[in-house]
Amino acid sequence: MSKTILAIDVGSTKVAAVIAEQDADNGLRITGHGVVESKGVKKGVITNIELASKSIKKALNDARRIAGNNISVATVSISNAYARSLNSSGIVNIPHKDISIKEIKRVMDTALYNANIPNEFEVIHVLPYNFKVDDQDFIEDPYGMNASRLEVSVNIIMTQKSALNNLTKAVRAAGLEIGGIVLNSYASAIAVMGDDERELGVAVIDMGGQTSNLIIHVGNSIRYNDFLAVGSNHITNDLSMALHTPLSVAEKVKIRHGNLLESGNESIELPVIGDEENRNPVPLETVHAIILARVEEALMLLAKSIDKSALREQIGAGAVLTGGMTKLKGMRELAQAIFGMPVRIGLPRELDGMYEEMKDPAFSTVVGLLLHQAGGHTQYEIDFGKNLLHHKEVTGSETLDDLQLGGRKEEKSKEKELSFDFGESGKKSRKGRRSSRRSEEKEAEEEEATFDFGDLPKPSKEEGGGLGRFVNWMKQLF
Ligand SMILES: Nc1ncnc2c1ncn2[C@@H]1O[C@H](COP(=O)(O)OP(=O)(O)OP(=O)(O)O)[C@@H](O)[C@H]1O
Ligand SMILES: [Mg+2]
Repeated sequence: MSKTILAIDVGSTKVAAVIAEQDADNGLRITGHGVVESKGVKKGVITNIELASKSIKKALNDARRIAGNNISVATVSISNAYARSLNSSGIVNIPHKDISIKEIKRVMDTALYNANIPNEFEVIHVLPYNFKVDDQDFIEDPYGMNASRLEVSVNIIMTQKSALNNLTKAVRAAGLEIGGIVLNSYASAIAVMGDDERELGVAVIDMGGQTSNLIIHVGNSIRYNDFLAVGSNHITNDLSMALHTPLSVAEKVKIRHGNLLESGNESIELPVIGDEENRNPVPLETVHAIILARVEEALMLLAKSIDKSALREQIGAGAVLTGGMTKLKGMRELAQAIFGMPVRIGLPRELDGMYEEMKDPAFSTVVGLLLHQAGGHTQYEIDFGKNLLHHKEVTGSETLDDLQLGGRKEEKSKEKELSFDFGESGKKSRKGRRSSRRSEEKEAEEEEATFDFGDLPKPSKEEGGGLGRFVNWMKQLF
């Protein structure tokens, strides 16, 4: 049986809403889409909730009309603008010696509890990048292994609550419920990365209208994310100011004559701001120099960010550039020269029923949002709704185990509510569950109360969450 899913990319220049049918094997077929100019969004964040929600609603209604479906739960992108990440780790004992999904969830939750999440931040992704089973390091997948101890290192991606709240408000005002929140560059990476690139390590940079969002994917997970408040609109502004020509003309000049490799000897005639009857001759060389200066600067800052990540040596596959700005001629060559690594321009993976218009780097994020819902996430992930996403078929015995714990369910879920406050949006998001999530996960979450307090490493720093403090308090008691 197929299930309808909806993805909404709230970009700085456009809002894209796409509806798809997801079959039992996670295959996707696009059935409707809507793309409108975005209003009330600047440099990746909502600056006017009313205007932003109107844009979302418009795009949504177009997609709904085409798909003939009134779906009201959406997975939405959030910009890196106010995102941050930190590393953490967790250790748990495995009482029954077999590592099942419950243990993987438990160790990842422990890593999350151990992290010092600043109050004004909300966790959106917990991504494991190294599992250690007993004393064996770099275990690709601990599932099904026999061990007495499981350790994990995770990368926790979080975003400022205020940015998230404004986004949720705008989405809700458009009549939608949030089914998931995904970092935009993580979504773009899912849409453009090939299997070999994932394997070898890759940097994915989405260069859009007002922002550039970078992630580095190494060894099964995103290890680094960064943001630059520069996009293709800046080129338009530069051209408009330097050539005293209206923004709409500057945008056309950029798209028609933008070229980072060569500049001709010809001139073009451009209208002057305030005196549009008159035209000024402008040498193409000048146009190219203005564009090159902006793009070069952006790429140099991004190269610095790659260096700052200290992961350069682990990026075996080089960089994939995507987003509307990467349609500039010569982008690949210039980036390759500046980054000193192989670069390609990434189009979103093609899906059944994909509209021609969407076969474009500007649609990588929205396609990635759909793929994330259809199991394209990393091997294991704790998502925004605090669910464990994975690809395993869970065995009957695990389900039985869970049932045996049923008697304490109520008490345990209460404790969970105490431990995480992810607000209205988080609670709602649990309704929009994904196919890759198993019902066992919910039980696994509830099983957290069976924590052997000895499992938890002694906190060296102040525990961030409520449960962390509770555990510390219990440790002192016993
Ligand atoms: N051929 C081209 N050369 C340069 N820029 C282009 C070209 N075609 C489109 N663009 C630019 O791409 C931008 C839109 O890209 P995209 O849709 O990826 O941005 P967005 O997702 O809305 O914004 P952001 O990701 O920054 O929030 C616009 O600024 C547009 O001018
Ligand atoms: Mg974008």
